[in-house]
Amino acid sequence: MSRKIIIAGNWKMHKTNSEALQLANQIKMKTTDVKHTGMIMCPPFTALAAVADVVKDSGISIGAQDMCIAKEGAYTGAISAGMIKSTGAIHVIIGHSERRQYFGETDDSVNQKIKTALEFGLKPIVCVGESLEQREGNITSEVVTKQIKGAFAGLKPEDISHIIAAYEPIWAIGTGKTATPEQAEAVHVTIREVVAEMFGQQAADGLVIQYGGSVKPENAQSLLSQPNIDGALVGGACLKADSFAEIIHIAEKLG
Ligand code: 13P
Repeated sequence: MSRKIIIAGNWKMHKTNSEALQLANQIKMKTTDVKHTGMIMCPPFTALAAVADVVKDSGISIGAQDMCIAKEGAYTGAISAGMIKSTGAIHVIIGHSERRQYFGETDDSVNQKIKTALEFGLKPIVCVGESLEQREGNITSEVVTKQIKGAFAGLKPEDISHIIAAYEPIWAIGTGKTATPEQAEAVHVTIREVVAEMFGQQAADGLVIQYGGSVKPENAQSLLSQPNIDGALVGGACLKADSFAEIIHIAEKLG
């Protein structure tokens, strides 16, 4: 089954609104020729609406980096799925390891956020991945299986078609160390097997599974050439229009 390659950029806590507008405009201009590759930019909440406006006539869609489980209410500082949707964003990253590490995200909160996101018509990009200690302890497969089972508990097979999974080994995020294409491929196969077990082969075959962790123009081709690596969730290299557009063009040639 051929899946569309989707490249997403997670801007993390970078870019003021004027910087965000500049970056979004540059990326848009450099990707006007892209036909087959999905493109997503995830700026900070503060820039969502402005960036969504910049890309509205382009092939780029917008995502948030997190959201609140609750739909509305007295949750000072929190941002709801409905608020995100109202900016023009259609995706939301859920369960990024930085949210798990610094903000107490758990498999259970990830699961609840996915359900709320789907209810509001937002498409979750669900992140899983092991720590260095877990990889060295040879429990990567168990860790990722548990995260996927927890995240997707209680969903229906048709929900999977609105979800992107992202495998991001924590030891590869922002460190310059990338998983080898073989290491990443093996975990992507595991993720697809777990999803097949939970929701059937058809749902699993349709699931786009991105790799994230020090993806750059130099390693994008070898990672994206793997049969079960269907895209990338890019951090550092998405903050410069040249490198993000280059990764997209590498994907476009493979697509
Ligand atoms: P880097 O590409 O900076 O390693 O970040 C990856 C990431 O966490 C994307 O969500």
